[in-house]
Amino acid sequence: MTLPIAVLISGGGSNLQSIMDRIGQGVLDAEVRVVLSDRPEAFGLERARARGVATAVVRREEFPDRLDFDREMIEIIRSSGAQAVCLAGFMRLVTPDFLHAFPDRVLNIHPALLPSFPGVHGQSDAAGYGVKLSGCTVHFVDEQMDHGPIIIQAAVPAYPGEGGAKLGERILRLEHRIYPQAVGWLAQGRLGLDGRQVRLAPSGAARAVLDQDPPCLVNPPLEQGF
Ligand code: GRF
Repeated sequence: MTLPIAVLISGGGSNLQSIMDRIGQGVLDAEVRVVLSDRPEAFGLERARARGVATAVVRREEFPDRLDFDREMIEIIRSSGAQAVCLAGFMRLVTPDFLHAFPDRVLNIHPALLPSFPGVHGQSDAAGYGVKLSGCTVHFVDEQMDHGPIIIQAAVPAYPGEGGAKLGERILRLEHRIYPQAVGWLAQGRLGLDGRQVRLAPSGAARAVLDQDPPCLVNPPLEQGF
């Protein structure tokens, strides 16, 4: 059954685009019901409009506290009919109330191999540290920042002195593959949660992808179309 989702953004929305593209290609059985941004200038809003997807802007400054802000978002998401929420470059922490409104149905993507390098500068923190591998992580959201149970990770090589921007480009290419894949698994009802352990139910139809451009290690392996 098609999974109705909401995507929350603050910026460019390239991850949103990758999700909409996979939906458009018939690979991901989901429907973006609403794209919600806390910033009116977020380019991702234009990406959504170009696809005829409903958009909403909720500015934090217009609410006395985080709870009221999140309640407004919950209201918009619920009335869109979305049953799951993808944080895609949404630069705010959500409250426990928000998580309770969509239990085990809020996903986030982070541009580092968690639990290393949480926070807003994952790529440059990893590059500055001199790691030899970094990557990206899609995880369920819990009450701590960049912390919840991990659904899928992709690792890419990091090269001395290249800096966060260059490393980040390589990571972003993998973000665009693993996020739609994780949403696809959620839509197929194949993700089981057991404490911090996320189990992926096998699918008779799914076949692993061997394409590894850029060079990467992805686990669980990407399936065809992603
Ligand atoms: C991505 O690197 C994502 O992992 C991080 O913020 C960035 C958002 O990029 N949370 P975009 O808006 O999807 O292009």
